[in-house]
Amino acid sequence: MKLPLAICALLITTTAFAQTPDIARYQHLGAATCASSVCHGKIAAQPGRNVALNEYGIWAKEDVHSRAYHALEAPLSKRIAANMGIGNPTTEKICLDCHADNVPKNRRGPRFQLSDGVGCEACHGGSEKWIEGHAAASRTHKENLAQGMYPSEQPVQRAELCLSCHLGTKDKFATHMIMAAGHPRLAFELEAYTTNQPAHFSVDADYKQRKGAITGMNLWLTGQIESARGLLLLARSDVLHPVGIVPEFALYDCHSCHHPMDRLRGNKQGPAAGSKTGGLRLQTQNLVMLQAALEKVDPQARGELTTLTVALISAGQRDVAALNAAADALLAWLKVREPLSRRAFSRAEILDVRKLLLRDAAADKVGDYAVAEQIVLGVESLSYALGDRNAKKAALDKLYAAVKDGTTFVPTQFAAAAKIALTKF
Ligand code: HEC
Ligand code: HEC
Ligand code: HEC
Ligand code: HEC
Repeated sequence: MKLPLAICALLITTTAFAQTPDIARYQHLGAATCASSVCHGKIAAQPGRNVALNEYGIWAKEDVHSRAYHALEAPLSKRIAANMGIGNPTTEKICLDCHADNVPKNRRGPRFQLSDGVGCEACHGGSEKWIEGHAAASRTHKENLAQGMYPSEQPVQRAELCLSCHLGTKDKFATHMIMAAGHPRLAFELEAYTTNQPAHFSVDADYKQRKGAITGMNLWLTGQIESARGLLLLARSDVLHPVGIVPEFALYDCHSCHHPMDRLRGNKQGPAAGSKTGGLRLQTQNLVMLQAALEKVDPQARGELTTLTVALISAGQRDVAALNAAADALLAWLKVREPLSRRAFSRAEILDVRKLLLRDAAADKVGDYAVAEQIVLGVESLSYALGDRNAKKAALDKLYAAVKDGTTFVPTQFAAAAKIALTKF
């Protein structure tokens, strides 16, 4: 059958781009285009301007994204590639899709260089249309967006952007094969990773006026919802289930398979959490965080979410059809509950959520390393949101020490650290 041209174009667009479509819509002119000393390449922050104009230097010197391509030249990457039986990682699409701004050839301008790694336009969108006018004083952010600038200030869109590489999508996924070849395990939490990326922007008065502002609590919640959604979409992605009965291992909690056999750490919630002793557990860390976030503010929704999570975990031990159905039910639930990410939380409510996270940890309900790790990241993010992170640093350091290494992680030690923390928060 011959497809009409418009549909062909659509099919090509959705299969050829590993970026979110908005990022790859227009030509990418390359980081060098942004780097000139009259643009974003100033040595120091410029006073009296909307943006500091030293963004290039921060990115090039402090931000690992500028080195992401060079990571593919390192000995570890060579080993990963050799173990996978693929060619040079600096030319393999599967590696470049996350370690560089791998837009199709016809979207690369004359100064574009793959070796720039995760460059400005990998996050801000191809600048072909907006490069000319975007610096004019009269220009609004809305006008820039209409010309293809990516709305990275919007929490959901930012989450989708970061997660496209830090979790992966069906078009670019760090499969279990890549992990088993030696790739570091991927972890992500939107608020924490936003804080950890060396900031080349500052949310000051004029920023708020131009772009609005997000509270730390809302950014954390958005990250949990979008990460959960990303994992569920992957879980029901036919692409990752080519054989049918073999699930993609990377969707499951890595340490439910990978830990020493003489240190038992089965999930203490057992059948109540949908998992029989010895059962394989899907990654549900973000759904667990959302349960804690809802416990006080919407107990009914929390009950629904818990039931759906249990159903997902048991479906993950059955077959692809059951998994797809359970993932769809959760995706539908998340869609309805999406306004949660924008709900205004009082200080008392945020304090409650932080305590609830620690309470679950202290009760040794956390068999999964990935859940423990999300709790620690979340407790720190909420501490930033509450403005007491520095005052709590000693307790946070103890929690981080307990989740430092997934392989040697001991749930009872983590519970003990959480019990102490509970008295300090
Ligand atoms: C789904 C996106 C994705 C894919 C696909 C991917 N990576 Fe990565 N890679 C990442 C992210 C994200 C990190 C950083 C992880 C972190 O620290 O949180 C990373 C980290 C690494 C590191 C460690 C870098 C360092 O500085 O320590 C190496 C090496 C690496 N990747 C090589 C590869 C190779 C080789 C391939 C192709 C076989 C590949 N990656 C495919 C996303 C990806
Ligand atoms: C890994 C993603 C990422 C990369 C790479 C990146 N940025 Fe950003 N950038 C962000 C995020 C997130 C924000 C904050 C949200 C926003 O304002 O869009 C931001 C904000 C900005 C701002 C807005 C400041 C303001 O006050 O409005 C400028 C200017 C900027 N980036 C320039 C650059 C330049 C130039 C580069 C390359 C040298 C670059 N960015 C690379 C993610 C990125
Ligand atoms: C195009 C893919 C891509 C996108 C989009 C992306 N990242 Fe990354 N990010 C990477 C890779 C690859 C690395 C590892 C680079 C290395 O170590 O060489 C990384 C590393 C990081 C690190 C350092 C992690 C560590 O363990 O030290 C932080 C923090 C981070 N990213 C935050 C973000 C945030 C926040 C966003 C969204 C605004 C984002 N990233 C978007 C690919 C991406
Ligand atoms: C269903 C169980 C299961 C899950 C879940 C799982 N793996 Fe594996 N993993 C295996 C098996 C089986 C092997 C192959 C072991 C061998 O060849 O000896 C393996 C191999 C590995 C290896 C190489 C070990 C070696 O000694 O060569 C690494 C690294 C690895 N996995 C990381 C991960 C990461 C990271 C995750 C989570 C994203 C994960 N695994 C999830 C079962 C699992």
